[in-house]
Amino acid sequence: MNGEYVLRDTDFLVSQTDEKGKILFANDDFCKIAGYTLDELIGKPHSIVRHPDMPKAAFKDLWETVQSGRIWTGYVKNATKNGGYYWVYATVYPNIACDHGGCGYLSCRRKPSRDEIAAAERLYKTMS
Ligand SMILES: Cc1cc2nc3c(=O)[nH]c(=O)nc-3n(C[C@H](O)[C@H](O)[C@H](O)COP(=O)(O)O)c2cc1C
Repeated sequence: MNGEYVLRDTDFLVSQTDEKGKILFANDDFCKIAGYTLDELIGKPHSIVRHPDMPKAAFKDLWETVQSGRIWTGYVKNATKNGGYYWVYATVYPNIACDHGGCGYLSCRRKPSRDEIAAAERLYKTMS
């Protein structure tokens, strides 16, 4: 689907990466909403779903946070395979079973409210 996919209340998108951001796993909700099969995602850099409206600084902050062993939360606009997009509220965890992301990272995403999306859009327009 192109245009916006608005998450359902029950959508919950999970992906796991290695320490460099290469996708190791994605759950059904992630695959369906992004428009890829799991096979198409495994081994790809997570930037495969990057949307050009996302400021670089947001991902810099994400990486600095998880690489120092802390949890990052934030709003992310992602691209779908066929030119659509969807907004998520993401929580990215350094793998808590290992130190400082040595075992990679895990992201869990849920539906943000329209107000939260509007605020993130305003903020990201001021960032690069
Ligand atoms: C666990 C995890 C999940 C990520 N999820 C996303 C995501 O959903 N969308 C996205 O654009 N980048 C995501 N990233 C960040 C990407 O790795 C990448 O930094 C970003 O897409 C920007 O691309 P670039 O680093 O090539 O500029 C995630 C990173 C990690 C560690």
